[in-house]
Amino acid sequence: MIIEKARLIRPYGGELVNLLVPREELIEKAAYANSLPYIQVSSRVVCDLELLAVGAFSPLHGFMNAADYQSVLDTMRLADGTLFPIPITLPVELGSDLAIGGEIALRDSRNNILAIQTIEEIYEWNLEEMARKVFGKFDARHPIIAEMHRWGKVNIAGPIEVLQLPPHLDFAEIRRTPAETRRLLESYGHDNVVAFQTRNPLHRVHEALTKRAAADIDGVLLLHPVVGMTQPGDVDHYTRVRVYKTLIDNYYEPDRSLLSLLPLAMRMAGPREAVWHAIIRRNYGANHLIVGRDHAGPGPDSQGQPFYGPYDAQDLVMDYADEVGVQPVPFTEMVYLEEEDRYEESAKLPPGAKTRKISGTQVREDYLGNGLPLPPWFSRPEVARILADSYPPSHRRGVCLWFTGLSGSGKSTTAEHIVNLLLEKGRNVTVLDGDVVRTHLSKGLGFSKEDRDINIRRIGYVAGEIVRHGGMVICAAISPYRATRQDVRNLVGKGFFEIHMATPLEFVEAHDVKGLYAKARRGEIKGFTGIDDPYEPPLNPDFTLTAEDSRPEDNAQLIVDRLIELGYVRAD
Ligand code: ADX
Ligand code: MG
Repeated sequence: MIIEKARLIRPYGGELVNLLVPREELIEKAAYANSLPYIQVSSRVVCDLELLAVGAFSPLHGFMNAADYQSVLDTMRLADGTLFPIPITLPVELGSDLAIGGEIALRDSRNNILAIQTIEEIYEWNLEEMARKVFGKFDARHPIIAEMHRWGKVNIAGPIEVLQLPPHLDFAEIRRTPAETRRLLESYGHDNVVAFQTRNPLHRVHEALTKRAAADIDGVLLLHPVVGMTQPGDVDHYTRVRVYKTLIDNYYEPDRSLLSLLPLAMRMAGPREAVWHAIIRRNYGANHLIVGRDHAGPGPDSQGQPFYGPYDAQDLVMDYADEVGVQPVPFTEMVYLEEEDRYEESAKLPPGAKTRKISGTQVREDYLGNGLPLPPWFSRPEVARILADSYPPSHRRGVCLWFTGLSGSGKSTTAEHIVNLLLEKGRNVTVLDGDVVRTHLSKGLGFSKEDRDINIRRIGYVAGEIVRHGGMVICAAISPYRATRQDVRNLVGKGFFEIHMATPLEFVEAHDVKGLYAKARRGEIKGFTGIDDPYEPPLNPDFTLTAEDSRPEDNAQLIVDRLIELGYVRAD
């Protein structure tokens, strides 16, 4: 097998594509782009656009047209026969601004104009067909298939001019285009470059695997982690890049390794994705790619089965290695050999060897969640510390207890009891009480549907910030509308608990502690929840309590006990 030297390897298809408008035309083009109708494109399209623009997807010159799209689905090749396994498309909602022969500006979510797209084609695409052909099955557990339901129903295609790359403020010094990466790699003076694709923190098995690969090819390691979009739930890229930087600085040979970030939006398409990764890395100047176990696998499908065989990706990359110009460096699963204190592939273990491993879920739940340090055989101490900082133990993670219920149902009283129990257990807590919030944060708002929603969203926004910083917050406002509560739940994210104070209207009205129900009945207050404004009870609350037949201290204890069970509060 002939392997082109990395020093000489040409981009896939011969030349690096560059879609950026020349500097001298920029001002004029930008002014023109401002006058065009525009669409705001998704983060995924922004990632694709960036890699198209800098030639990481060479020889692609833009988003795929109908012929290329169909051909890629059916044969993994563009209509001209060039191997390219993943469809790169620009899905949009069919709208009045779309006309064949017209132009449209592409803007990111902050409205930066990124590109001018000429519309040569508008074509329909079929979700199920794409799912089956690219991902192997039509299963909504696949994260990209789930996401595809939100994509526009038609694709547009045609020449594209890129005015600016999507702005990145983070880690700018290690973000490099294919051309820059090639130049740097060449300066290392080795014939071979092996790329390592990853979307996860690097632990010691990965360090062993990457070093072995670099030694096997006697060349340079291009540590090329994905920082665009990966699988939802993955460790965020800020944390990961801190890990990679520490490792590169302390544990890798400086003259044989290069860390560079790749703003790719992954598809989790297993074997097809691995071939795509090989093509991309060829464009960045590598002639080898590490392909281990379950490369770009999305986890189990809805039947609990894997989408792809663990080594299917290796086989497919091998099948197309000569055509792509990138050889796989295959590995079976790397594990830790306890008695010999070293790392080995599962296929090469001595008989009866005792091995150890820790899964990603175990890292998060059993170790970090409980504040236990990751063992030194598993992670370098610097890495263990970075992960521990990013994933504090559960008793230091954010929690939002969101009370909802009629006026006088016992929200505030129960909240006060919870506050006391929590302080006794060593957790501080902020209370955002509807009545109190209306005296400052929401001062001036009334009780129209619109004002109520603004009030709830303000409380939700503040709660979200508190939770994001690892704090505990109790919100106690009527929050009568289901949809608004759902918004707030999304805003806060993980750690949100909805507590329905389901004390019945007859009971709260009979007690009428603030005299408000009487006033509402007399018509002195308008739009009072439960009287002449609706209360929409939660459909799936995390807790349902009532003040009718339980004491607030007992209700509070019930909540705190559950928080202790879940680890959010320490038992001692
Ligand atoms: S991926 O989605 O980017 O493939 P990940 O970052 O986990 O996920 O893996 C990056 C590469 O390392 C893949 O080629 C994968 O097969 C390989 N890999 C990860 N962990 C191991 C392991 N323990 N043994 C062998 N290969 C591994
Ligand atoms: Mg109250």
